[in-house]
Amino acid sequence: MEQIRRGRDLIQGAASLVVLTGAGISADSGVPTFRGPEGLWRRHRPEELATPEAFRRDPRLVWEWYAWRRERVAACRPNPGHHALAERALRRPSLTLVTQNVDGLHGVAANEAAARLGVNPGPALPLELHGSLFRNRCSRCGSPQSQPHPVATGPEAAPPRCPECGGIVRPDVVWFGEPVDPAVLERALDAATAADVCLVVGTSAVVHPAAGVALTAVRSGAELVEVNPAETPLSSVARVTVRGRAADVLPPLLAPDPRGPGGRDTA
Ligand code: OAD
Repeated sequence: MEQIRRGRDLIQGAASLVVLTGAGISADSGVPTFRGPEGLWRRHRPEELATPEAFRRDPRLVWEWYAWRRERVAACRPNPGHHALAERALRRPSLTLVTQNVDGLHGVAANEAAARLGVNPGPALPLELHGSLFRNRCSRCGSPQSQPHPVATGPEAAPPRCPECGGIVRPDVVWFGEPVDPAVLERALDAATAADVCLVVGTSAVVHPAAGVALTAVRSGAELVEVNPAETPLSSVARVTVRGRAADVLPPLLAPDPRGPGGRDTA
């Protein structure tokens, strides 16, 4: 497909690549997205489940929802899209991976690819803008918490407590109305500013500051390559738009150029 070839040429030639992913990349692994026809926000109200106010009002309900999501995600595996990104990051570490996803699948793919290649997974580990479903922290003192998985929920269960200050333990994710970790955001924006190509995969690009990572890259002169079956607010500024599923499109998009470095024929 012509769009894949054009996108691959841009990505191959990039001295510095920033990649922003969203729920769409994990859709091919069976993780529900947020805004599609089957999206989580079609069936659940975010203000009842994913805000600090909701947690203060009913921490058990919020924990039940996160326990359900953890269980669902724990049964999912990275797909060829996650694997292609991880391999590319390890083979050419001039890539910074930034994700809005809290499902941990980029990390699993990074560890698997690193084991296959016999290298350190570091360059393939993502900056997690919205935190992780699989980490907890105290809602009062902020200290990281390791809780048994799954955290007990059910009608009798009391929400877990911090052993240090007694505060209620919460999932270490970013809720609506909360700021993104400024240190993580700064690293993502620095990578966006330095990038000459930005690859955006499977995000509706309506949540900020995450979508701002792609916009920062474009404003700093990067070419944008978008992978998404649907149009998004970024489509109009993309140099190349690939309308397909991440699991199908990323392996050929990120594959080494068969014509050799720089697109020259090696035969
Ligand atoms: P959305 O659910 O808003 O968007 C998913 C995007 O993935 C859509 O643009 C789909 O067209 C696209 N898509 C669906 N299937 C795909 C596939 N197989 N391959 C590629 N793309 C596909 O998810 P996000 O943009 O990630 O935040 O949502 C951003 C944030 O909103 C989330 O991180 C979450 C949510 O509220 C928080 O919880 C803080």
